[in-house]
Amino acid sequence: MLEDGVLHLNHGSFGATPTAVLEAQQRLRSRMEANPTRYFLGGEYQRELDSARRAVADFVGGDEAGLVFVNNATSGVNAVLRSLEPILAPGDEIVVSDHEYNACRNAAAVSASRSGARVVAARVPFPLESPQQVVDAVLAAVTGRTRVLLIDAVTSATGLVMPVADLVAQLEPDVRVLVDAAHAPGMIDFDVSELGASYVTANCHKWMCSAKGAGFLWVRPDRRDDVYHSVISHGYNGGWPSGGGRLHAQFDWTGTDDPSAWLTVPAALEAVEAMHPEGWPGVHRSIRELCLAGRRVLLDALEIDPPAPDDMIGAIASVPVPPANHSGSEIFDPLMAALEQRHRIQAPVFTWPAPPDRLLRISAHLYNDESQYQRLAEAVATELGR
Ligand SMILES: Cc1ncc(COP(=O)(O)O)c(C=O)c1O
Repeated sequence: MLEDGVLHLNHGSFGATPTAVLEAQQRLRSRMEANPTRYFLGGEYQRELDSARRAVADFVGGDEAGLVFVNNATSGVNAVLRSLEPILAPGDEIVVSDHEYNACRNAAAVSASRSGARVVAARVPFPLESPQQVVDAVLAAVTGRTRVLLIDAVTSATGLVMPVADLVAQLEPDVRVLVDAAHAPGMIDFDVSELGASYVTANCHKWMCSAKGAGFLWVRPDRRDDVYHSVISHGYNGGWPSGGGRLHAQFDWTGTDDPSAWLTVPAALEAVEAMHPEGWPGVHRSIRELCLAGRRVLLDALEIDPPAPDDMIGAIASVPVPPANHSGSEIFDPLMAALEQRHRIQAPVFTWPAPPDRLLRISAHLYNDESQYQRLAEAVATELGR
């Protein structure tokens, strides 16, 4: 559905949904609207939800009993942190990395403040040479008071695939690890139960290409009894007859909403798989290779070294760009605005709180190609006066 002439190099912020998926969503909505009472209360909704859940569980390697839909990763992170407030005591700590996505870091700050705990940010360098620097930085921030680690599987502004499995192996079960895997499923080979973290939340509407408004939360079996959605609804006292038990009942109904985005996940998985001759493993390989090639084009144009090793790159990558002469009060960085307005290129530019100060991020999905990064590099060079 992307409009003609606009170069969309920002799948990482808002994925482009395939038309086949949007058509499937329209068919789902038509069925729902034909007889809403029968659809929601007659078992049809629950059957379709369970079948979509099965598709997600098969794709991400989690069991269905521990897997629930949420509208997005932000909701998943909020649900877990709210549920953890009762175990946090004054002086306890929630550790995050300083590459953590702002919205989720805010959620950690609010949950901490409600319980007298505090958020500690581990200083992860950028540029960096190896994933071990991440492990060292996070472990250095963990103390005997650390109850929770909130860590991104793939960071947003810096675009790094984080060594989450290593951290989980060193910290669980004493520290509960909440993995914000917003970008991971569909971008990299990613198995939630193999990770071993207490909680994993992710988006389906990014790299899995479902309709927007679909994510999931998977909870490890020993943590399932005390997780609630941030919205309390019928399931709290058993008033939602979900066959899947207590956890499903908390999340399968949170008030009337349009569940069609969740239900498009099977169609999305099938549609994207069919776009590559090797299916999903081929998708992962191709988009990563494209992202690395795109990053190379930009690095050459900017005459700088890679800010992170290739093995920390999935399908998004950030490169430093020189600091801007602007007040910092604009919502959009002037380079990002110029790329959009003068060159019709969508690529985010983030302010970074330490040198190199500004990061330009590219994304790669199957609808992108290498010449597009060349066009971006030329536009960036023009805007930076090179
Ligand atoms: C690491 C990370 N976490 C959470 C999110 C939030 O995703 P959503 O807006 O779908 O909740 C993003 C979005 O890009 C992200 O990069």
